Amino acid sequence: MYKTLNLLNAEIEERYSDKGKIIFYNGNALDLLESVPENKIKLIITSPPYNIGKEYETKISIEEYLKTQEKIISELIRTLSDNGSICWQVGNYVKNGEVFPLDIYYYRIFKKYGLYLRNRIIWHFGHGLHASKRFSGRYETLLWFTKSKDYTFNLDSVRVPSKYPGKRYFKGEKAGQPSCNPLGKNPSDIWEFVAKEWDKQLWDIPNVKSNHPEKTIHPCQFPIELVERCVLALTEENDFVLDPYAGVASTLIAALRQNRKAIGAEKETEYYEAGKNRINDFYNGKLNIRPLGKEVHKPTGREKITKIPEEWKLKKVL
Ligand SMILES: C[S@@+](CC[C@H](N)C(=O)[O-])C[C@H]1O[C@@H](n2cnc3c(N)ncnc32)[C@H](O)[C@@H]1O
Repeated sequence: MYKTLNLLNAEIEERYSDKGKIIFYNGNALDLLESVPENKIKLIITSPPYNIGKEYETKISIEEYLKTQEKIISELIRTLSDNGSICWQVGNYVKNGEVFPLDIYYYRIFKKYGLYLRNRIIWHFGHGLHASKRFSGRYETLLWFTKSKDYTFNLDSVRVPSKYPGKRYFKGEKAGQPSCNPLGKNPSDIWEFVAKEWDKQLWDIPNVKSNHPEKTIHPCQFPIELVERCVLALTEENDFVLDPYAGVASTLIAALRQNRKAIGAEKETEYYEAGKNRINDFYNGKLNIRPLGKEVHKPTGREKITKIPEEWKLKKVL
C-alpha cells in the first residue's frame, strides 16, 4: 500500500522496514512511528514546531502544545535503542512579549520518562530579528538526552583543532612532551559565530538564512553540519537516525552522508517534496552543503556594508 520511489540512486520508502535505508513519510509523525518497532533507533534529532505561529502551525496554549508533544515524545522513546540518544533543538515561545524558554518545559517531560541529560548545547548565531523591547535573541538550545547510562559517544570523530597544539607539559613525568590530544580538542557545549571555531571555546555553525548555500523554501531548516556533528558523535555506521519533524530532510541527508540509515516524517507536502528533491540531488552530487567546520564568513572591514553611512556622519548621529 505504501509507495517506494525509485530515484536515480535513492530508494525512498514510506514505512519502516529493517532493510530500508531511507524512509521518508508525508504525514503525521505519530502515524509513521506506529510502524517503527521498539529499540530500533540510535539517534532521534529534531527541531519541533515551537508554537509561534509559523506557516506550518496553528498557535495553541502552551499547555495544549506540550501535551501534543508529550504524546510524540513517549512514542519516540519507545522506538529509541537502549544506548541511544535524543537531541531536541528548541528556542523560545513568546506570548504578549513574555518569553518562555521551551527547553525548560521540555526538560521536565524527558525527565518524567527517565532520560538522562548529557549536554545543554547553546547554538549561537549572528543574525535574526531585531527586538525593540528586549535584547535580540541570538541563540537556541539543543538538549542531548540518553535513554540509559550506557550510550555511544564518539568524541574522536568530532574533535576540532586545538588552539595551541604546540603546548607541552612543563613538569612531571611527561615534562617536555606535547600535552594536547593530536586529534584535536573537545568542541565544547557552546557553538558560536566566530571566524574559526577553534579561535574560541565555541562551536560555530551559522543558521540557515538566505545567504546560506543550503537555503530552501522552509522558513527554519537545520544546517546539515549541525546534525552531522551529532550523527558522528552519537551513532555508528548503519545505525538508524530519525527526525519526526523532518521539514526539508536536513537530518535525513546528514545521516545518509555519514552512511547511516535515515527515517523521518513531514506533514506538509510542499516541504516533503522539497526534501525528497534534496535527497535526490544529494545522491546525484548536486546538493549544496556547507562542509562541517568550515569557517564562517567574517567581514574584513573593506566591504561597503561595514562602513558608517555618510548621512549619519552629516547629521552627527555618531
Ligand atoms: C522546525 S521545522 C523543522 C525543520 C527541519 N529541521 C528542516 O531542517 O527542514 C518543524 C517541521 O515539523 C513539521 N510538523 C509539525 N507537526 C508535525 C507532525 N505532527 N508530523 C510531521 N511533521 C510535522 C512542520 O511542517 C515543519 O516543517
